[in-house]
Parts: sequence; C-alpha cells; structure tokens
Amino acid sequence: MEGKRRLAPSILAADFMHLQDQIDAAKAGGAEYLHFDVMDGVFVPAISFGMPVMKCVKKGCTLPLDVHLMITQPERYVTDFVRAGADILTVHYEAVKSPARVLEEIRTWGVKAGLAISPETPGEEIRELLPVIDQITVMTVRPGFGGQTYIPECIDKVRQIAGWVNENDYAVDIEVDGGVKHDNVDIFLEAGANVIVTGSAVFKGNVEENVRIFMEKLIAQ
Ligand code: DX5
Ligand code: ZN
Repeated sequence: MEGKRRLAPSILAADFMHLQDQIDAAKAGGAEYLHFDVMDGVFVPAISFGMPVMKCVKKGCTLPLDVHLMITQPERYVTDFVRAGADILTVHYEAVKSPARVLEEIRTWGVKAGLAISPETPGEEIRELLPVIDQITVMTVRPGFGGQTYIPECIDKVRQIAGWVNENDYAVDIEVDGGVKHDNVDIFLEAGANVIVTGSAVFKGNVEENVRIFMEKLIAQ
C-alpha cells in the first residue's frame, strides 16, 4: 500500500543567512519533513554540513528531520546523528559493508532506518533488504550536488521497487531525491514515490509559494 505523500525540502539549496525564516516558510506551505544532506567530500566530492548545524536546526524546527548521509562508512556516526536529532536516518547502500546491520542499529534507537541507492545501483541489489527498511531513497541524480537534471532511467527503478513494496505490503516509504520540479513531480508520483525531496525548486524564489504548488500536486494526483 502506498504511504502518505510528503514533501521533504532539502535545505542544501537554502539561504543559510535566513535559515529559520526559510524553514518556517517551508512549513507554512505544508512541507512535512525537512531533508538534511550531509556530504563528506569523500563519498561525494562536495562537503556540506554536519552535526553542529543539525543540532541548531533541530532547536528551531518542529518538522521531522530526514537525514541523508552521503558519507563513507556512515556506521561510524549513527549514534551522533541520532543524538543530533535525526528522525529518519538514511545511509547509502554503496557506502556500507553490512547494510542490514546498520539499518537494524538505526532502528534500535527508535529512529526510522533509510537506505539510499545511487543511480548506478540496480534495484535488485536492495530487494532482499526491503523488509528491514523504513524508507528507500532512490537517487534520481548522481548524489553530491543540488540543481541537477533528473536521470530518466531512474524512474523505472522507482516503479520496480514500488511494485515489490506493494506486492508484499511492506511498510516502506519510497523517496525520490534529485531534480524534482513543479513540472515533473507527477512523473515521480505516478511511478510510485510518496516522499518527494526537492531543493532548488523550493528554495529559489518564494519558498512558501513553491511548497504550496508542490503540495497541490501531491494531494491532487
Ligand atoms: C543531492 C542531494 C539532494 C539535493 C536535491 O545529492 O541528495 O537532496 O539537495 O536538490 P535538487 O532538488 O535541487 O536536485
Ligand atoms: Zn538528499
């Protein structure tokens, strides 16, 4: 069964001088998660932000934090990100030796366990893990930068994974991340995604209005 549709604005594209205002505007528009992209300069070329920023955001934000770790060996930091306030903690399949073990550890903290897969990873590789995942993030761009154009082939992977989730009635949210805009979000929803990450399409321009337009589409479809 398809999970509730939610928008998860990624603050990677936000104006950090006005972060509180931008988060408040996203919430006012109807966003239900806040997506937090952590990059280490190793798993991906860019470096973004980490625990200290997250702790501040947690104080000023009542939305659940959807934390996307684009870092090598994320198992080293599970406890730190849980303590910093993650509500959903997502590690990359390509970055961990034993995904099942990390996912289980995340769950033992009472935090939702997420697994992200990069565009080059076939859906089959994570199929067996679906019963121990709370949220699967299908990357629709190469992880590492906001503002890219989505890779159309990744849509088939979303559809394939949604099929497995529905057939088996797994309680897994299907998140898509990368290149989602007002004029293409329907494609991701139709393929079976129910959690939509969006960075530049929300934080460039009027944040509240941008979120509102997304929410209308999420509700309408
Ligand atoms: C990319 C990040 C995304 C990114 C999305 O590595 O995981 O969350 O911020 O940004 P847009 O919506 O601009 O593609
Ligand atoms: Zn992300």
